[in-house]
Amino acid sequence: MSEMDKEIWDTTVSKVSRHVEQEVRLKGWLYNKRSSGKILFLILRDGTGIIQCVASKAVLGDELFARMDGLNQESSLIIQGHVRKDDRAPGGYEVQVTSCEIVAEALPEYPITLKEHGPDFLLDHRHLWIRTPTQRSILAIRSEVMRACRDYLDSQGFLEVSAPILTPSACEGTSTLFETPYFGEKAYLSQSGQLYNEAAIMALGKVYCFGPAFRAEKSKTRRHLTEFWMVEPEAAFMTFEELLVLEENLITYIIDRVLDKRSEELKTVGRDPSDLEGIAPPFPRMTYSQAVELLKKENVEIEWGDDFGAPHETMLASLHRKPLFVTHYPAKAKAFYMEPDPERPETVLAADLLAPEGYGEIIGGSQRISDYALLKQRIEEHRLPVDEYNWYLDLRKYGAVPHSGFGLGIERMVAWICHLDHLREAVPFPRTITRLRP
Ligand code: 4AD
Ligand code: MG
Repeated sequence: MSEMDKEIWDTTVSKVSRHVEQEVRLKGWLYNKRSSGKILFLILRDGTGIIQCVASKAVLGDELFARMDGLNQESSLIIQGHVRKDDRAPGGYEVQVTSCEIVAEALPEYPITLKEHGPDFLLDHRHLWIRTPTQRSILAIRSEVMRACRDYLDSQGFLEVSAPILTPSACEGTSTLFETPYFGEKAYLSQSGQLYNEAAIMALGKVYCFGPAFRAEKSKTRRHLTEFWMVEPEAAFMTFEELLVLEENLITYIIDRVLDKRSEELKTVGRDPSDLEGIAPPFPRMTYSQAVELLKKENVEIEWGDDFGAPHETMLASLHRKPLFVTHYPAKAKAFYMEPDPERPETVLAADLLAPEGYGEIIGGSQRISDYALLKQRIEEHRLPVDEYNWYLDLRKYGAVPHSGFGLGIERMVAWICHLDHLREAVPFPRTITRLRP
């Protein structure tokens, strides 16, 4: 069989436009159907899209037609037929069925019907819910976002390293650690691969890790998951200023990629692609101190030194269409490893990138402390067990360099892009403090 024949034979809904007036074979599931006695309109979904297939009794014969007519939603099918362009059909194409194989008949009463369901019901049936067009589109966009992260960083000379998930110590504060027994001692699920990235850059220059991160967040908000995915670039010799430029460029690349490749999916999830157009560097910036002044002017209760909560972030970011950098946070509101600002050492060379439209912090990043004595002091001030950080301190003994990095939360990015109410729809199987299943 030639390549072309093979493609026709095993094509997908997303590619039928290439095969107008040709015979194709599609494999998928029955999403919906209508019957007029002699004609059946089968809506087939195959993971790449949805298409209407028209079957007639005259072609299929009485017996197969009757079986098809009685099929339940989600029955799996292999349909062979002739592709026709038809502007009235959903998607603009239609398949005139010449033959059909029923792979498995679905049981009646598929739990997810076309009517409305409550969020808890849908989350309990997440394993089936992901089949619906909106959820499928979100997951396709998520995949595009993850691929864009890798493509961009690879193109900039970053190497992907895999940081461990089982770790002996904290990266982002001890209050959100998941503990697990580990052969007679305690281990923790990784909060971030950053500390390992810092070791890897001294070997490879520019690296990123990409994997799940775990936080036993006590907060039950729409912005927090207990398991989320993060891409974390880190580079030796990268200054704070260069860090912000890398962040802007990565975010812009991701948005452009989704607009280019997933505009159909954006429309399916109800996001007008034009909302995301024009997101390009430079992104607006403000210091933490300026942000506090601004919040005070708006009569928001905040004192210099407090970390921002969701309402603060939403208010600040609502001033702009593009994401907003808030920089130079007070050292005491942030993690132990951040480099102090030489101009004002009670603040650190850190930036949070706040997404517009109330999506909050999508990136947290900073320059890292490169001085051995200061880093050790910070570890002690944060009451962390210094012994567990000796290897990390070693990096400051043997050729320390200025270096910086950041972490981009994939679910927050996807939630913003797709305009979702809650992070739990931005991940295939969400984990929150109240949800471990399915
Ligand atoms: O600001 P965070 O905690 O930074 C770090 O973990 C750094 N060590 C990263 C680094 O510099 N390499 O987290 C980074 C991002 C946040 O901006 C947010 O997008 C996401 O990770 N994030 C969460 N996403 C979902 N649920 C949670 N509980 C999250 N916590 C952080
Ligand atoms: Mg943060």
